[in-house]
Amino acid sequence: MSQSKIVTIERHIIEGERAHPGATGDFSGLLRDLTLAFKVIWREVSKAGLVNILGLTGKKNVHGEEVKKLDEFADDTIYRAMDHGGHLCVMASEENEDVLQIPDNYPTGKYVLIYDPLDGSSNIDALVTIGTIFSIYRRVTPKGKGMLQDCLQPGYKQIAAGYCVYGSSTMLVYTTGDGTHGFTFDPSIGEFLLSHENIKIPRRGKIYSVNEGNYRWWHDGMKKYVKYLQEEDKETKRPYSARYIGSMVADVHRTLLYGGIFMYPGDTKNPNGKLRLMYEANPMSFIVEQAGGRSSNGHKRILDLQPESLHQRTPLFIGSEEDVCIAEEFLQGKRESARAS
Ligand code: AHG
Ligand code: MN
Ligand code: MN
Repeated sequence: MSQSKIVTIERHIIEGERAHPGATGDFSGLLRDLTLAFKVIWREVSKAGLVNILGLTGKKNVHGEEVKKLDEFADDTIYRAMDHGGHLCVMASEENEDVLQIPDNYPTGKYVLIYDPLDGSSNIDALVTIGTIFSIYRRVTPKGKGMLQDCLQPGYKQIAAGYCVYGSSTMLVYTTGDGTHGFTFDPSIGEFLLSHENIKIPRRGKIYSVNEGNYRWWHDGMKKYVKYLQEEDKETKRPYSARYIGSMVADVHRTLLYGGIFMYPGDTKNPNGKLRLMYEANPMSFIVEQAGGRSSNGHKRILDLQPESLHQRTPLFIGSEEDVCIAEEFLQGKRESARAS
């Protein structure tokens, strides 16, 4: 008989909270509400190919309801799942310019939720893997409704982060600072079950992931680093393979499991790259660091960056410890080729 125990995400969260004396259960309530939102989003994402049959965006569906674009739907679903629980004082979503307030008629709590409702949304129509990313902080203002300053905290202050990838299977990966754990969704029972306990990213991988179409705008260090990855060397298993899905959540998920590096660098056209610090880089960095990996903007640890605005962008180099270290050496001009100078 198989020895592995069946653990739902709910049980895992509650047991994790029990390890902290004085915990009120507030936090596990928050994560439980989020899990419900992921199930609702999963249900709609799984029907993406049916939009032409069930109704196009902007039209009415078979129930006579407006059919929303999936990223708007996901944004709405998370807000509606989270606004009334009494756990949060404010939210911020990649889809909205300003912070999202808790409605007047609901209680406010001590946590802050920051989320990217659907990452990789340009891939939806091709049925490519996409996902939801979230990040949780403790509020810094004393009480009542939360404010921008509750959201603009550096990544090392996160108390939890996670993502749900909607792929050939759906999986929720999260950390509360006590390792990174993965749960696979079993649609037949509607539960996320522990499938990847204490994920450890390999110290070095053999895959690199970057949009090489931007090569002409890359800085010198970046060009040299990618050339280095493409050179042959048996000892360091080069050349690396290239994989780029174009959904950061899926590219980082693969990197977490197989090792290697995912990059979205700054370049001469976009000095800060494309990815957003608060919604994408911070949560993924917390998750990858908790799995033993590394994440940086090429010069500094992502989690140490002090955010100045909600939607600010940052270059991102994330993955296996050794791979990210070597990338940093190239980007900082400390290395020009296979051998350190
Ligand atoms: P989003 O769908 O939330 O706007 O994010 C898209 C991001 C990210 O998922 C992905 O890594 C990146 O855009 C891809 O950008 P390029 O097309 O420039 O490679
Ligand atoms: Mn995104
Ligand atoms: Mn998005």
